[in-house]
Amino acid sequence: MSDLRELFLDELADLYSAEKQLLKALPKMAKAASSDDLRQAFEEHLTQTEEHVSRLEQVFEAFDKPAKAKTCKAMQGLVEEGDEVIKDYKGEAACDAALICAAQKVEHYEIASYGTLCTWAEVLEQSDALDLLQQTLEEEKETDERLTELAESSSNMEAEEGDSEDSESNEDNEPRSKRAQTPQTAGAGRKR
Ligand SMILES: [Fe+2]
Repeated sequence: MSDLRELFLDELADLYSAEKQLLKALPKMAKAASSDDLRQAFEEHLTQTEEHVSRLEQVFEAFDKPAKAKTCKAMQGLVEEGDEVIKDYKGEAACDAALICAAQKVEHYEIASYGTLCTWAEVLEQSDALDLLQQTLEEEKETDERLTELAESSSNMEAEEGDSEDSESNEDNEPRSKRAQTPQTAGAGRKR
């Protein structure tokens, strides 16, 4: 059991780093969003993320350990990809869809991490830690669902835009690369 406790604390330090990296990335993503709804979603998630960091500190406390971050390389990669997307799609119609895609990858990573830590907290009979981790897990899931809804509404808007540009246009004569962008994002996070 002591091995699992060590592993738990190791993953906790990884997640603590991940959340802190996200604190820096979210304001940039909010700034790059063109729709007000998406910007607001990022801003609200930033406020939630501050709370997630503080809950992780409380989990460390429940284990009688000082809060310690261990660089999360996965989040580093996800944030780097997010930065690339902002650079590549800045000012383009698909920019919001690309931002949603990057954000949902982050949420899914966090959902996996929190889910695992919840299971281990249960095995380790750490009910206070479990309660804190579960609260955050629920918020990450809600954020993911909200992003899916935003992806769906932004792809609807793009479809309408296409119709008004050319009333003859339909999916078959649109370039494949253009068609592929939003529907894929809209699908992410659907299955639960
Ligand atoms: Fe979070």
